[in-house]
This record gives sequence, C-alpha cells and structure tokens, in this order.
Amino acid sequence: MNYCAIILAAGKGHRYLKTIPKQYTVLDNELILNHSLKIFSEINSIKKIILVVDKPEFNKFKVQIFKNKKIKIIQGGKERKDSVFLALNKLRKNKFKKVIIHDAARPFIKRNLINKILKLSKKNDAVIPCITNTDTIVFKNKILERKKVFSIQTPQCFSYKKIFLLHKEFKSDKFSDESSLFFFKNLKVKKIKGDYNNIKITLRNDLNLNNKISYGIGYDIHKLEENYKLYLGGVNIPHTMGTVGHSDGDPVIHALIDSILGSKKLGDIGTLFPNNKKFKNKRSTLFLKEIINLLKFKNYKINNIDINIIAQKPSLKKYKKIISNNLAKICNINKNQISVKGKTTDRLGNIGKNKSIACEVITSVSNN
Ligand code: CTP
Ligand code: MG
Repeated sequence: MNYCAIILAAGKGHRYLKTIPKQYTVLDNELILNHSLKIFSEINSIKKIILVVDKPEFNKFKVQIFKNKKIKIIQGGKERKDSVFLALNKLRKNKFKKVIIHDAARPFIKRNLINKILKLSKKNDAVIPCITNTDTIVFKNKILERKKVFSIQTPQCFSYKKIFLLHKEFKSDKFSDESSLFFFKNLKVKKIKGDYNNIKITLRNDLNLNNKISYGIGYDIHKLEENYKLYLGGVNIPHTMGTVGHSDGDPVIHALIDSILGSKKLGDIGTLFPNNKKFKNKRSTLFLKEIINLLKFKNYKINNIDINIIAQKPSLKKYKKIISNNLAKICNINKNQISVKGKTTDRLGNIGKNKSIACEVITSVSNN
C-alpha cells in the first residue's frame, strides 16, 4: 500500500522558545524538523510527504530542509488542526487511501514504530501509538487508574477518507490531535505501544541542550609587507609592516570566525565572505559582527574563546589585553571568557623571518 505522510511544522513553539520555532533549532547537528523528514523519506511505501510550515517564518529563518523529491511544502494554518486540514485538503485529488500524520516536534521517532503503525493500518482505520503514565493522575479529586490512562503520541495513521470527513465535521471544535476525532465518535482505534523516547518537545527544558557544548577550530595566516596596516583582533597595531589580504587581512578575526562557524557546522569564512568586490578592503570586524548576529539568531552562545597569535614581531605583550577586550566587546561576552596568547616561532620558518603572522583559535559554543 502507498502512503502519504503529513509532517506538521507550522507551529510557533511559544512554550519552548520565544526567538525561533523549536522545529528550526538544532539537535545533534541537524534541524529538529529534518530528523522526521529524513526518517519518513527513507520508507519506501511512503510516496509523498507534505511538509506543513508557516512560510514567512520558514523563509525568515532560512530553513535548509533535508532534500528529497517526495517532499512538498505547503502553508499551514492558525492551529495545529487547521494545518492538518489544509494538508488533507491538498490531497483531495490524490489517490492515497492512508495518511500518516506526525509532529515535527518529535525528532526521536524511530523507524520501527512507523513500520509497525503502517503494517497495522492495513486492517485498521486509525492506528495510534500510546504510552502509559508513570505519575499519579487525578481528575476532579478522583485518582484515575494509571494503567487505563494513556498519553497519545504521533505518528498516527488513518484512512484518508475517514479522517478528512471527520475534520470537516468537527471543523469548529477544539481538538489537539486526529485520534480525538475518532474518540469523539466512538470509532474503533487501534492503540499500539508507543515509545517513551518519542517525546514532543514542548517546554523550555524538554531538551536539555544547555549542556550540549561543541567546539570549533580556526586557523589563518597572512603575508606581512611594508605599507600595509596591521590589524589583529580588530585592533590596529603600530608596526613597520602590515598584513596583506582581500579584506583588512586580520588573521585573528578570520581564525575566530572559522572556529565559531565550525563549532556548529555553519560553513566557513571563505564561503560566507568570498573574495569578491563586496568584501574588498572591508574591515574584518564587520564580518565578525555578522557572525555574532547569526549566533544570536540561532540561539547559540559562546562559552569561551582561546586564541594563539603566532608572530615573531611585533611583541604582543602590550596588546594582548586590548585585543582580548575588543573581541569580548564585539562577541558580546565577558572579558574572562576569552584568552589571547602570543607566540613566536623562535625565528623559524616564514613567521620567524617576519614574512607572515598566523593565528589559531578554538571556540566553545552551546545552545542558549
Ligand atoms: N503545528 C502546526 N501548525 C500549527 C500549530 C502547530 O503545524 N498552527 C505543529 C507544530 O509545529 C508541532 C506540532 O504541530 O510540530 C505539535 O504542536 P505543538 O507542540 O503545540 O507546537 P507549537 O504549536 O509550535 O508550540 P506552542 O503551542 O508551544 O506554541
Ligand atoms: Mg501548539
């Protein structure tokens, strides 16, 4: 049997974060939304995937979705049920007998569970995964029998015709998932054992990402020549020579940017700021400011930065603190979160012969 999957990602995720919808944040180096898209795309009997998003937000956050030709993106609605209805409506002319509906906010979904649901859907109009609760549950001062109370998860699989009709019938009612419609009508629902790990990310601390630290490394080297200015970490250092570069040739900022980008797999400086007219002779501090804005936008924070500036001359003794303070200010971090160290190469190699200055940086970044 062929299936169509509907992946719901048009919510605002207000209970989770105020800045960016949860499905567009990162979990294990991948957008939360992409975890579901990938797993549903890999299932052969799923021939089409309707991804429901809020297009203005989707564009605003420049969401890069997992690429697969089964996926079609449509605009969602105000409530979850409106988003589902819009997707079902789009399928009117398709010949899918079954639809499987999933919240993009459940990135831990396992292929096994989907397969079980699909298999059972052949003989059932509604198949839903449920888990029992571990807390004591009280309703109007009455203790409910724990084993008889279920939490219902997604994905849920339905006969297309039935669920579309039910959606139409209950258009003006409030309901939080499709299984509710079957329950309202007392229709048969096949309950199967869900997965305790298949949580719906909802509240601020549902994913303990605060501890999720990643690291990035950056390196850069620039030629030294007379009649050029020397910028290190955005600070103009008085010297007889300066660095040659397409921009202002600041190896410290360039290495720092690459380390920040690397920590969250966001690309590299050459791709983001290529050697073209737009960036010619530009100050590197402008690039760094853009990267800091990008971090803010993605809800990441810098934990610490460690910098080695490798130069034979000039001596950096007097400047290390000035550079460190300047970078702390641009990066919007505390002065004690950044360390700038100076190094020579004992007159060895290009750097030792005062032909170049290099810099290496490690940055630690985590989710805010
Ligand atoms: N959803 C949707 N369209 C809406 C609202 C929700 O497609 N108008 C999706 C969400 O993106 C999510 C799923 O439905 O994948 C479950 O909803 P919920 O957990 O409530 O997510 P949000 O509505 O985004 O969160 P909140 O209610 O905290 O704002
Ligand atoms: Mg919601």
